Amino acid sequence: MKFFLDSAKLDEIKYAYETFGIDGVTTNPRHIMVSGKPFKTAITDIANWIKEEGLEGYEKFPVSVELNPHLDDADEMVAMAQEIAPISPNFVIKIPCTEAGVTAARKLEAMGIRTNVTLIFSPAQAILPAKNGSLFVSPFIGWKEANGEDCKTYIQNIVDIYKNYGFYGKTEIICAAVRTPKQIVDCAVAGADIVTTGLAVYQDCIKHAYTDQGLKTFINAWDNTATE
Ligand code: E4P
Repeated sequence: MKFFLDSAKLDEIKYAYETFGIDGVTTNPRHIMVSGKPFKTAITDIANWIKEEGLEGYEKFPVSVELNPHLDDADEMVAMAQEIAPISPNFVIKIPCTEAGVTAARKLEAMGIRTNVTLIFSPAQAILPAKNGSLFVSPFIGWKEANGEDCKTYIQNIVDIYKNYGFYGKTEIICAAVRTPKQIVDCAVAGADIVTTGLAVYQDCIKHAYTDQGLKTFINAWDNTATE
């Protein structure tokens, strides 16, 4: 399973790459806003860091960059994607799962510009982007679970549909808006390819109260043992 960082903050991206070896980045308009930088500056800074690290190529380290969410016309979406894509060979254009968005994604994939169809909330929404060859789909988890839905079946259904029709592994499933280690485990058990979340959730994945307790026991034993 691949771990992507859901952030546009360069310091967080660098830290998560150096510390956890994250496999890619996803951004959205809210992450860009939180980075405090203008849109073009934020994505160009990420592109420049990728170059410095020798990580060029979306196959090595994909970075999803979301289009202006005001756009609701496929041709306008394609035009904006064509403006952004040349900034970095790592950029994957993130497009909402609307009729215009799915149309634009199909056109962009035909042109060789890779796409991530986002804001997916049902298995039905995940089918067309896969048929059209999008590189990623992003079904959201946290927003649904916050409203009382259990997402295990939802992700499992997408995995099963993809396996039934040969999409599995071609269009990769990024479980997005993941809030807890348990949700990561649920996505992994279902067979999702990728999760994307913030740094704190990955840090929480490493922690366990018994690990801390066990460490204390071993420290105590070590301190009461002669070293020679
Ligand atoms: C996914 O690709 C999105 O960037 C993200 O997960 C959106 O949700 P959030 O900002 O509520 O976490």
